[in-house]
Amino acid sequence: ASRILAASMSTVTEVKKITVIGSGLMGAGVVQVAAQSGYHVNMVDLKEDFLAKGEKIITSSLKRVAKKKYADDAAGSQKFIDDVMSRITLSTNSEKAAAESQLVIEAIVENLKTKQALFKALDAAAPQETIFVSNTSSLPIGDIASATSRLDRFAGLHFFNPVPQMKLVEIIRTAETSEDVFHTLATVTKKMGKVPVACKDTPGFIVNRLLVPYMMESLRLVERGDASMQDVDVAMKLGAGYPMGPFELMDYVGLDTIKFITEGWYKSGKGLVGDKLIAPSPLLERLVAEGNFGRKSGKGFYSYEGVGADKGK
Ligand code: 3HC
Repeated sequence: ASRILAASMSTVTEVKKITVIGSGLMGAGVVQVAAQSGYHVNMVDLKEDFLAKGEKIITSSLKRVAKKKYADDAAGSQKFIDDVMSRITLSTNSEKAAAESQLVIEAIVENLKTKQALFKALDAAAPQETIFVSNTSSLPIGDIASATSRLDRFAGLHFFNPVPQMKLVEIIRTAETSEDVFHTLATVTKKMGKVPVACKDTPGFIVNRLLVPYMMESLRLVERGDASMQDVDVAMKLGAGYPMGPFELMDYVGLDTIKFITEGWYKSGKGLVGDKLIAPSPLLERLVAEGNFGRKSGKGFYSYEGVGADKGK
């Protein structure tokens, strides 16, 4: 009987409307996949022109999707794009948007204080049953959640770039995240066509905990002069089956992002403080200091001039 009771106690919140805060590359990608899966989505950012940029990221990605789905059917392709866009509402009022949503996904700047201030305000505005999640890749979920009064309805939901293409979503459970919330998030991400995996609230969760030290080790290999970065990239693509080599991937993710993540963990990442795997790399430091952040700035380890901004996304 107790097993039946436990099963029936675990329910799934019905999510109809999702609010995504932040219309950058990750936020816009999440808005897109949610709207493509039939959800009504509020896309929120601080200014109208940020929202316009986010909308542009979505329409250009939808065109790529439509091209495959509808090949020569121009009318079908346009209808698909219009349908998805009709489910997206743009807003600069995060509290009003959150108040009408069952799920709020935050994808704003990677700054703990900024995220805490946002969630504190949303906590006062949204119904108690609304679930809050952060797409942070490097900050502890528990630290962000502590700004709210809904620790049981707070989790991490970590998507990967490019969001429309990458199948994985990491669901991060703190010690307080409820079973219901976990099951709701698993249901929503599956409906989005993604594959969810679960991880505790630890630095880097699963993917970045393995990927970031691998990137840093590839930097050290080149810094020691053991191999060229081109040969490291070829080796990992053809010898390990990765779609991009580590230097191509760092350019894709952003060198400033890699530096930010490793610095944060090196100083305060539980179990990673002072770990030599993520110690600063002179080569990475130099490129970031020169403003070479990878694809988004036109140059990183490689040059992307003439490639087009969209290619880097
Ligand atoms: N929107 C829609 N579709 C997209 C897209 C986008 N923004 N970007 C790529 N695609 C689709 C293409 O349409 C194409 O689809 P198809 O195979 O069905 O025709 C497919 O993806 C492949 O794209 P391309 O042919 O243009 O290029 P590639 O074959 O070189 O693939 C890639 C590009 C998908 C980016 C691939 O190189 C890849 O998987 N790279 C690794 C990406 C990765 O590891 N991401 C995780 C980074 S870590 C992270 O995000 C965590 C963060 O917290 C730091």
